[in-house]
Amino acid sequence: MPPEGEVREIVCEAKTLCVSRFHGEIRAMDGVCPHRGGPLGLGTIEHGKVVCPWHGWEFDPVTGIGVHNSRQTMFAVKAEAAEVWVELPDAVANEVSTTK
Ligand code: FES
Repeated sequence: MPPEGEVREIVCEAKTLCVSRFHGEIRAMDGVCPHRGGPLGLGTIEHGKVVCPWHGWEFDPVTGIGVHNSRQTMFAVKAEAAEVWVELPDAVANEVSTTK
């Protein structure tokens, strides 16, 4: 589970996700940037937005809405202790978070 104000990349059933914690809320979005495939989960949160580490596209961690009319798919999450449960369209999967 990421610390407050940070993101983490999690691969869950072959799906790469960007899990963020901002203002105490844990969220999960598609972790592949729609620009050129950058790893959003290796990015940062700046000014309340998830920022892609490759070219700086920004996405709202709650809605997934990004620059240039882009929108990341959001996934339902449930956080308990050090675990984040992500509900994917075809399955419910669990990934134990890692710390940096
Ligand atoms: S790949 Fe994400 S901004 Fe370019």
